[in-house]
Amino acid sequence: MKAIVYYQYGSPEVLRMEDIEIPTPMEDQILVKVHAVSLNRSDWEGLIGKPLYVRMAGLRKPNYPILGSDVAGVVERVGKNNNQFRVGEQVFGEMWSYHGGFAEYVCTQGRAWAQKPAGLTFEQASAIPQAGVIALQGICNKGRVQPGQKVLINGAGGGGGSFAIQLAKLYGAEVTGVDNTHKLEFMRSLGADHIIDYTRQDFTRNAKQYDLILDLIAHRSAFAYRRVLKPGGNYFAVGGSLVTLFQILLLGPWIKRSTSKSIRILAMQRNHKDLLAVTELCESGKIIPVIDRTYRLHEVPEALRYLGEGYAKGKIVISMEKGV
Ligand SMILES: NC(=O)c1ccc[n+]([C@@H]2O[C@H](COP(=O)([O-])OP(=O)(O)OC[C@H]3O[C@@H](n4cnc5c(N)ncnc54)[C@H](OP(=O)(O)O)[C@@H]3O)[C@@H](O)[C@H]2O)c1
Repeated sequence: MKAIVYYQYGSPEVLRMEDIEIPTPMEDQILVKVHAVSLNRSDWEGLIGKPLYVRMAGLRKPNYPILGSDVAGVVERVGKNNNQFRVGEQVFGEMWSYHGGFAEYVCTQGRAWAQKPAGLTFEQASAIPQAGVIALQGICNKGRVQPGQKVLINGAGGGGGSFAIQLAKLYGAEVTGVDNTHKLEFMRSLGADHIIDYTRQDFTRNAKQYDLILDLIAHRSAFAYRRVLKPGGNYFAVGGSLVTLFQILLLGPWIKRSTSKSIRILAMQRNHKDLLAVTELCESGKIIPVIDRTYRLHEVPEALRYLGEGYAKGKIVISMEKGV
């Protein structure tokens, strides 16, 4: 099979297409023929080896040579101890270790995978798992958004953010989206009531305060986030700089005790229930997985560059429908 591989951290130039063996499913796994795989910032981070925490699975060079985590495809083989899926079923989900998806086939246990709804294309289904579940957990499950609340989403023009804006609006919040200059109109088109260009304005220095902040790309200090939270408000960092995340871990509990403002890291919990919940909202048209561009498998380097250099609005998908 064809796969996009890399053996060292670096720019998209370190990626290349190779012919490798189709993986053999273990007894508890399924073999899936990949029809579409979406890109996440975690793929970009895994490629360049930054922030440092992505090197936990390979300090000097990547331990696993294939990136790509959110896959939709058709079950080709089923291990004898996997009772969840049947050959020929259309399925989608997230690779457990964020790896393996930029290939024609993947093996997975299928934990937290689901049947692809007939009403969604493979491309749409592949856009949902990581970004959709992060947004659902940040805005709804943990964030417990309420109608009329003021919600700020930092990094709102990307994959997770595009779901988060729509979910917050669906639940009746007043939404502020923060992202790059050329994503401002995009955030408005998803329903954001207010937009902030992070290249011109630091939202932590505005006089405004929010009930809920979902930060997909946290770079400021815990004290800056405290300043823009209302009393009783919640801030969740999903990703960002190592320094900021450490600071939140250390100071978050103290800030909570002294001010009633909650500043925490949101560690995504992969599970079937949340994947189905966000997918149902997509199937019913209440929210949409927004796909900016699709590329073919051999174009993964170009697609990752597009994402990493900040052009992507919503999700980027690798589609195998027209060949690799
Ligand atoms: N906590 C967990 O369990 C977990 C699990 C998986 C992934 N993650 C993390 O989730 C994060 C978001 O993923 P994603 O796929 O939604 O990323 P994405 O699609 O790349 O979106 C991030 C957005 O943030 C924007 N951005 C960059 N710098 C910014 C800044 N200083 N201020 C405001 N916006 C900024 C980017 O725009 P430009 O590039 O144009 O600047 C982009 O539009 C990643 O950091 C990833 O590591 C966390």
